[in-house]
Amino acid sequence: MKILVTGAAGMLGSALCQKISDSEHQLIAVYHSGQNQTCDITNRFDVKKLISDHKPDIIINSAAHCQVDRCEEDQEWAEAVNNGGVKNLAELAKEYKSQLIHISTDFVYSGKARQPYVETDQCEPVNKYGLYKLRGELAAQEANPNVIILRTAWLYGATRSNFVLRLLDDIKAQKKSIAIVNDKWGSPTSVILLSDLIVKIVDSIVQKKRISGIYHAVATGGCSWLEFAEYIIRICGVRDITIKPISMESLGLPATRPTHTILSNQKLQSVLQSEIPTWRQDIETFIGKNYIKSGKKMHA
Ligand SMILES: NC(=O)c1ccc[n+]([C@@H]2O[C@H](COP(=O)([O-])OP(=O)(O)OC[C@H]3O[C@@H](n4cnc5c(N)ncnc54)[C@H](OP(=O)(O)O)[C@@H]3O)[C@@H](O)[C@H]2O)c1
Repeated sequence: MKILVTGAAGMLGSALCQKISDSEHQLIAVYHSGQNQTCDITNRFDVKKLISDHKPDIIINSAAHCQVDRCEEDQEWAEAVNNGGVKNLAELAKEYKSQLIHISTDFVYSGKARQPYVETDQCEPVNKYGLYKLRGELAAQEANPNVIILRTAWLYGATRSNFVLRLLDDIKAQKKSIAIVNDKWGSPTSVILLSDLIVKIVDSIVQKKRISGIYHAVATGGCSWLEFAEYIIRICGVRDITIKPISMESLGLPATRPTHTILSNQKLQSVLQSEIPTWRQDIETFIGKNYIKSGKKMHA
């Protein structure tokens, strides 16, 4: 399959491009800027040229405006990318008979539920980022009923600052005390696991399995940021660090965050007919591969 990936320099995009390069599929990596193949997804002319030049079998859209707080100020820009850009891709994918796989977010939910969300639950975003991502989903589905939408959450990887890398930096710096939010719950997912799931979906398409609609593409289960941090500290073998629990509100961030967005991935497990690792297995693999070489712990 010829697979085109937008947002190729992003945290997910770079892991996904690596995964596709290692597979039998042909990769067309598309960047926002730079010297390689570029495209601004808000520019319909650019998107049309890109798709008509390459005629990919599959387009994976990992491009987005992901700075949640900036989306509150830069509303026009956020809407142009997270809604308008997605609409461009969906319409032109349909015109050129490419299958679009679009990445979305747990932030489409209100976070008021106390049990894991399923894909049919009501969407009610509490901030502008979630709102424009939801509008992007709706625009994509309206333009192109075959679109596959993957709602993911709490991504981490080896590139770009994220919760896991910041915590590992604190551990390496031998900090004695750290403050972690204890009143927000979600499904932490590595970009490596998400890339594996995406390639499994691509393989299902190759096998002509019928797959379209919305799926939660996350590690199995969920936790609070505090439980996640405690688990990371434990697997790093660190004992002399104190965690001070803090509230989300105390951070005083411009955008409200949904409180409880653990996502059920049962629908995706059924369609792929394979078990998805738990968030604990996912982080153990990630830290094992990247940070604990030859069985050495980070510091005792
Ligand atoms: N990170 C998370 O925790 C999280 C959670 C849930 C869902 N998601 C979703 O997962 C997907 C990937 O997120 P990520 O964390 O990998 O984001 P990321 O690291 O910020 O990557 C996004 C990429 O999109 C590119 N981009 C931005 N505007 C563009 C435009 N107009 N045209 C083309 N490319 C553009 C960016 O390029 P520049 O940097 O050059 O602008 C960047 O390379 C997104 O759809 C996001 O909504 C992320």
